[in-house]
Amino acid sequence: MKSILLIGFMGAGKSTVGKELSRITGLPLVDLDEKISKKIQMPIHQYFDEFGEKNFRVIESKLLEEFSQQEIILATGGGAVVQMENRTILKKQTTVYLSADSQTLIQRIRADKSHIRPLAQNSTDDQLVKLLVQREQLYQKSANITIYTQGKNQEEIAREILKKLKK
Ligand code: S3P
Repeated sequence: MKSILLIGFMGAGKSTVGKELSRITGLPLVDLDEKISKKIQMPIHQYFDEFGEKNFRVIESKLLEEFSQQEIILATGGGAVVQMENRTILKKQTTVYLSADSQTLIQRIRADKSHIRPLAQNSTDDQLVKLLVQREQLYQKSANITIYTQGKNQEEIAREILKKLKK
């Protein structure tokens, strides 16, 4: 089974759906944000504060390139589509865009106290909607398939992905 790369906005469920895909397919799950955090030896929000988003994107790109060569389920961060070189990598792979309505995403982002997201922390809801609108096309362009996740649980989403990929 080939790798599956998951992309989508913050709060889209990339990690939870990734876990389910990993369970069903037996492929190991790699969470790119976790790998970045391990490499930089600090939480991502702290790195953003100290070194800025630009430096974060450089590390994100390097690790995306490295892990895209392995046979895994890869849950990326919401900004993985921002860099052009990343989109080139994503397009060559089996990449799935998990989409959801902006209000649902924002609710999930705000409710998730265990995961500090620097871009969300410093933005209003309107700014987040704008960011999603800006990125929407990039997600669409970088993915082979788009799955609308609204109202579906992680198992339904994972099974829908695998069904679509078989076709
Ligand atoms: C980011 C999303 C985050 C993390 C970083 C930047 C973004 O990942 O990579 O805070 O630019 O959208 P999640 O999508 O897992 O929250």
